[in-house]
Amino acid sequence: MSLVIDRIGELVTNDPSLGSGPLGIVNQAALVIEDGKISAIGHEGTLSADERIDADGRAVLPGFVDSHTHLVFAGDRAAEFVARMAGEPYRAGGIADTVEATKNADDDTLRRLLGRRVAQAHAQGTTHLEVKSGYGLSVVEEERLVRLAAEITADVTFLGAHLVPPDYSGRADDYVSLVSGPMLDACAPHSRWIDVFCETGAFDADQSRQVLTAGIAAGLGARIHANQLGPGPGVQVAVEVGAASADHCTHLTDADVAALAGSETVATLLPAADYSTRQPYPDARRLVDAGATVALASNCNPGSSHTVSVPFCLGLAVREMGLTATEAIAAATLGGAKALGRTDVGRLTPGSRADVQILDAPSHAHLIYQPGMHLTAATLVGGQITHRSPGGP
Ligand code: NIG
Repeated sequence: MSLVIDRIGELVTNDPSLGSGPLGIVNQAALVIEDGKISAIGHEGTLSADERIDADGRAVLPGFVDSHTHLVFAGDRAAEFVARMAGEPYRAGGIADTVEATKNADDDTLRRLLGRRVAQAHAQGTTHLEVKSGYGLSVVEEERLVRLAAEITADVTFLGAHLVPPDYSGRADDYVSLVSGPMLDACAPHSRWIDVFCETGAFDADQSRQVLTAGIAAGLGARIHANQLGPGPGVQVAVEVGAASADHCTHLTDADVAALAGSETVATLLPAADYSTRQPYPDARRLVDAGATVALASNCNPGSSHTVSVPFCLGLAVREMGLTATEAIAAATLGGAKALGRTDVGRLTPGSRADVQILDAPSHAHLIYQPGMHLTAATLVGGQITHRSPGGP
């Protein structure tokens, strides 16, 4: 079965060889999907297929690749957010509250919550998600969370090293040994990545290295929560172990920026977390100017960033972090794909997965120009429609 999306006003391919500018834009375009992949791109009215969607001049973009989420959780931490807005600082210790609520939720409850969050992501243009564990913190619970995450994505990240749980208080090294040993053994079969929260109050540089190198030895790729709440060693550890991504990067020294720019490690920026924790926003301009690859992701979690909205992150990145609209769109698509080591998503080129968003707007700029508006007319994942707004194509 093939499908043509015709009469596209602006097609963002993310391949400069196919169109104009860094986003490879083709105007008055058509796009054919076959067997879940893009099979052809051409001028409107020139391509045919079994079925047809009339885009009627709308913009069509690659779906967002949300490369940092903590979507498997239960519980409510709204009170913590309200207190923060009234002046309380962010406490990473709130993670323990979510661990308790998640433990008390059965598999079907977690599946329902996860499914609802994925549907909300599709409704805002996201077509691929990385999902972390990290609200289990025991062998049994972490295994359960990565197993549930693997039901909805191939990019599952084992984050047993999210916080030292209360029963290991004062014995952080013992907990690190558990994470790097039996917990990793249980979780690796369901995971593609390993992550660690490298921060004062969570795990230090040596503990982070131990966790990541154990994960790499087990065949997982490394990623890291780095430099979120203050300056620290996270980015340097990321580059040293060859992590695919260093995430947050809110507090960077010149040496951190240079290390990222001189490496293949993507700087994944999570401005919705900085919004919700009243942190400064990361300086994306400084990273791009230095030559680092930047990704933008939602960091959906109940503590520091309760949103799956990549358009919200785009708005913050352009208004507060120095990116142009073009750079922000690239960071949320191609950048996310690179942070996950993927070449099949984040672009609309022949052979890539047909992960597509159709906007109720004539150009990608509207995603930033119209903040808070729901512009996603339709979303396709692997060529299948997963969201269609009322009045959409
Ligand atoms: O990425 N930094 C660590 N983890 C999450 C916060 C988790 C929580 O507060 O529940 C983050 O911001």
